[in-house]
Amino acid sequence: MPRQFSLADGGKIHAVGLGTWQLEGNQGREAMVHALKSGYRMLDCAFSYGNQALVAEAIEQSGVAREDLFIVDKLANTWHSAAEECLDRTLAALKTDTLDLWLMHWPSPLNHHGNHPKCPTLPDGTVDFEKNWNYVKTWQTMIEIQKRRPEVKRLGVANFGIKELEAISVTGVLPLVNQVELHPSCNQENLHKYCIQKGIQLVAYSPLGSTGSALLHDPNLKAIAKKNNATVAQCLLSWGVANGWPVIPRSSSPDRLDQNLDILELSKEDVDAISRIGKASPKRYVTAPWHTFEEIV
Ligand SMILES: NC(=O)c1ccc[n+]([C@@H]2O[C@H](COP(=O)([O-])OP(=O)(O)OC[C@H]3O[C@@H](n4cnc5c(N)ncnc54)[C@H](OP(=O)(O)O)[C@@H]3O)[C@@H](O)[C@H]2O)c1
Repeated sequence: MPRQFSLADGGKIHAVGLGTWQLEGNQGREAMVHALKSGYRMLDCAFSYGNQALVAEAIEQSGVAREDLFIVDKLANTWHSAAEECLDRTLAALKTDTLDLWLMHWPSPLNHHGNHPKCPTLPDGTVDFEKNWNYVKTWQTMIEIQKRRPEVKRLGVANFGIKELEAISVTGVLPLVNQVELHPSCNQENLHKYCIQKGIQLVAYSPLGSTGSALLHDPNLKAIAKKNNATVAQCLLSWGVANGWPVIPRSSSPDRLDQNLDILELSKEDVDAISRIGKASPKRYVTAPWHTFEEIV
């Protein structure tokens, strides 16, 4: 199975990375150190996860050299109009000189001076979007920052559908990566076809179906896992890699971290069977009040 995928700029991205959302405190740091010592080399981070300093500590403790890592971080929604400051804070918190990939976390600019650092609201309780701003302007800003700042090696987006990707194409610069929820129940078939045509690499977030995933208990998946002498999680991740996208599972358990790094070569029959299981029960696990997603079916 591929250990890396090629990006349109000629660079490479690892087939398996570590999701760092909700990895907090000692347990979170220990999980990250274990992951790095066990061979994870891509870290999926975000300003809004609030744990960049913990990621920096884990990297230091692991002894893995910066040049051997692929660090992904994301511009937070409430920082679209102050993107460069968000970048500077990110580099400082992560104690790194460079980001291998900087993503726009959501196509959703929120009020930088609002009543909440992540989800500001108006007096009527609705989401407080940044006035006189839009995500195309954010993308243009990120392009300009990258031209001036060698710290940003690559640009990408997350949670973009075809509509949003078309909108930012007016800038003449397409993202190298679009990180989206992607697992058998949310297979993003149309978006995947579109991204292949445009040379945009999809990356699968919540590849196991996120916290409390029903997929992990699916009896058909359990049968495929048993046949392959593997776990359901390994089958889900291997299904993603077989379909051509990197996966960024998160775990706080050393055993499960090791398991998730071990990608199997599934037969075409098993890959197709897993696709059918997901189609029978389409579901997005990640939703947000600041964004309306395209239909998945
Ligand atoms: N761009 C975005 O907007 C966005 C949104 C969501 C997520 N993400 C990124 O994607 C990463 C992964 O997504 P996610 O955190 O939502 O969920 P996920 O990786 O799909 O699933 C994580 C859950 O699965 C459990 N798990 C992990 N490995 C397992 C295994 N081998 N067997 C059984 N259970 C297992 C974990 O529990 P244990 O800890 O107990 O193992 C945890 O509850 C995030 O951490 C984040 O970096 C990005």
